[in-house]
Amino acid sequence: MKVRILGSAAGGGCPQWNCACAVCAAARREGRQRTQDTVAVSGDGSAWYLINASPDIRTQLVSAPDLAPGPGLRQTPIRGVLLTTAELDHTVGLLSLREATALTVYATAAVRIALEPVRQMLAAYTPVDFQSFGTGLAGGLTVQRLTVGTKRPRYAAGLPGGDWVSALRLTDARTGSSFVYATCLPAWTEEFDEFLRGADEVLLDGTFGTDDELTRATGRPGSAASMGHLPIEASRHRRARHPGTRFRYGHLNNTNPAVGPDIATDGLVLPL
Ligand code: MLT
Ligand code: MN
Ligand code: ZN
Repeated sequence: MKVRILGSAAGGGCPQWNCACAVCAAARREGRQRTQDTVAVSGDGSAWYLINASPDIRTQLVSAPDLAPGPGLRQTPIRGVLLTTAELDHTVGLLSLREATALTVYATAAVRIALEPVRQMLAAYTPVDFQSFGTGLAGGLTVQRLTVGTKRPRYAAGLPGGDWVSALRLTDARTGSSFVYATCLPAWTEEFDEFLRGADEVLLDGTFGTDDELTRATGRPGSAASMGHLPIEASRHRRARHPGTRFRYGHLNNTNPAVGPDIATDGLVLPL
């Protein structure tokens, strides 16, 4: 199995276009950037699935050699998109995939209902198939899903459903190696602990370093917990129960100055 981090930032990316905070200012000055959270995964190196589709998807795809088209004129190795939320920073990129000759999207019922307007827009450009999650994917991958959160996107207030936020576990059926994606994790429950047991790699929620980070950095109210994100300070010690698993953090908010060996970067290929 191959896992490629296409983008490692939360909504807005870093630097965010209209943000002059210390973290964004330093990134701008030093010419560093993180694009918004999206991951690509493949069991055989030729059939690929995107986990989410960020607003930065075009830039992310053209800078990933594994995802280049060919040999057919419009042939792409991307077989589908697995959505873990309906948030705009995970779904706006679907509209940029309209050039596809066909598009398959896997999502929960709540997420599919929220994205029905997007599905209708896309359907005018290409045949689209929005499905519930199955288990088998092309290239020898299987996928398991766990509902980890019920927070609706702001634009979806009032819509029905409970399965708004998922963690995914992708397993290579031949080697048994597996990768867990959980970049929007409100709490590390016993159920989640069980879900990731024995995984080789886990990409965790790195949105905030501390629970009060957003307020400290911007003066805006709102703890990490109230936004559905377990801060790094709280998940760090939970990792100790899984000594054979490598953890990394993705979906970094532009208020989060975190750097270090366990922080994902754009373009990182995880060793699995
Ligand atoms: C989140 O990750 O919690 C959302 O993307 C926040 C937002 O952009 O509204
Ligand atoms: Mn987000
Ligand atoms: Zn900023």
